Amino acid sequence: MRGRVEPRPAAGDGLVGDVRRRIASGDAQDVGDALRTSGRLLGSETVDALGRRARAELFGAGPLQRLVETDGVTDVLVNGPQDVWIDRGDGVERVAVGFPGPEAVRALAVRLAAAGGQRLDDASPMVDACLPDGTRLHAVLPPVCGEGAVISLRVLRRRASSLEGLVAGGSVPAGWAPLVRGLVSRRANVLVSGGTGSGKTTLLAALLSLVGPDQRVVVVEEARELVPDHPHVVPLTARRANVEGAGEVDLAALVRTALRMRPDRIVLGECRGGEVREVLMAMNTGHDGGFATVHANTAAHVPARLEALGALAGMSREAVAAQTVGAVHVVLHVQRRGSRRWVSQVGQVVRAGPAGLAVEVVGRWDGTAPPEAGPGWAALAERWEQR
Ligand SMILES: Nc1ncnc2c1ncn2[C@@H]1O[C@H](COP(=O)(O)OP(=O)(O)O)[C@@H](O)[C@H]1O
Ligand SMILES: [Mg+2]
Repeated sequence: MRGRVEPRPAAGDGLVGDVRRRIASGDAQDVGDALRTSGRLLGSETVDALGRRARAELFGAGPLQRLVETDGVTDVLVNGPQDVWIDRGDGVERVAVGFPGPEAVRALAVRLAAAGGQRLDDASPMVDACLPDGTRLHAVLPPVCGEGAVISLRVLRRRASSLEGLVAGGSVPAGWAPLVRGLVSRRANVLVSGGTGSGKTTLLAALLSLVGPDQRVVVVEEARELVPDHPHVVPLTARRANVEGAGEVDLAALVRTALRMRPDRIVLGECRGGEVREVLMAMNTGHDGGFATVHANTAAHVPARLEALGALAGMSREAVAAQTVGAVHVVLHVQRRGSRRWVSQVGQVVRAGPAGLAVEVVGRWDGTAPPEAGPGWAALAERWEQR
């Protein structure tokens, strides 16, 4: 099913250098021009292939570009010239792609940083930048790392996932589709929970694609991942502090900013820190129809996770409970086993004890048999299902 990632044959090496020089000197307008006027006899296919290659080297991620473009790859990681890794959903795997030496890795890191409008040199040896195609770059130079540079690329995958696609692929039971549609159209505040790589972001993208086109969706993320099939999305991405420790824009600040941008929907890609306070506040102040994802291995773990995140923002357990009950209407929990990912639980947040929270699971699905409805299902469906 998956193609192996083979090293690319190093054809036409001198030509790329030649193209680079001729563009830099102004002799050629662009890559195509530089190739056509190179004085070499080239077939049209060769020109195409070399053009792609030259563009990748000049403007893209160089030898990493093809990895970035490989289907399903979310991360490309370079630890050294012969130490390149990718993640395509099953953890990191080593690939046979290499650089001539540490200087080449460093040169690529510096060039990518520049493409993202940032400086990377001995005076500022760490960079966090967004490349023109949306790829997120993080790079460090010695002495922060060893030789060369360490490069981490997070690829922007267009996740135009749809509810139909998830139903057809066995990730959402057909019987739950009316509920899922209704949660969006009736403006429930929805928390998507699940473990790492369980499909939270993918489900969230499908939910956002159901939002009416007349609504303005403001999406807050650590790094841009969500590209829903929707005509009016405003992405806001966090920024780390620069080397002087200035300029940080965290998720909490972005959620507060989002509130002032006339949103119809506020979305927090992943709630992983004190910004839980801002999101709960938004959901409690009339901004219904919001979405967030949170890391939790089962729906039952969601309360403990929210409490831990709330504590980072100085919220007591009681405060988290008070802010969550009534604000978060439904929890959709996604589960992963091997390469299968599916919505395994539908729950709602309820009070437990004087200061606590619990998630009451009202629907369960093992991914194959018909889903099971618990005692609370009828009431939940009555309130939210689209009819
Ligand atoms: N329902 C699904 N069916 C098949 N693959 C999926 C599904 N949901 C997600 N994936 C794949 O699993 C990987 C992780 O998905 P993602 O939504 O980013 O997970 P999370 O946000 O929980 O970390 C991605 O490569 C994605 O394409
Ligand atoms: Mg995610």
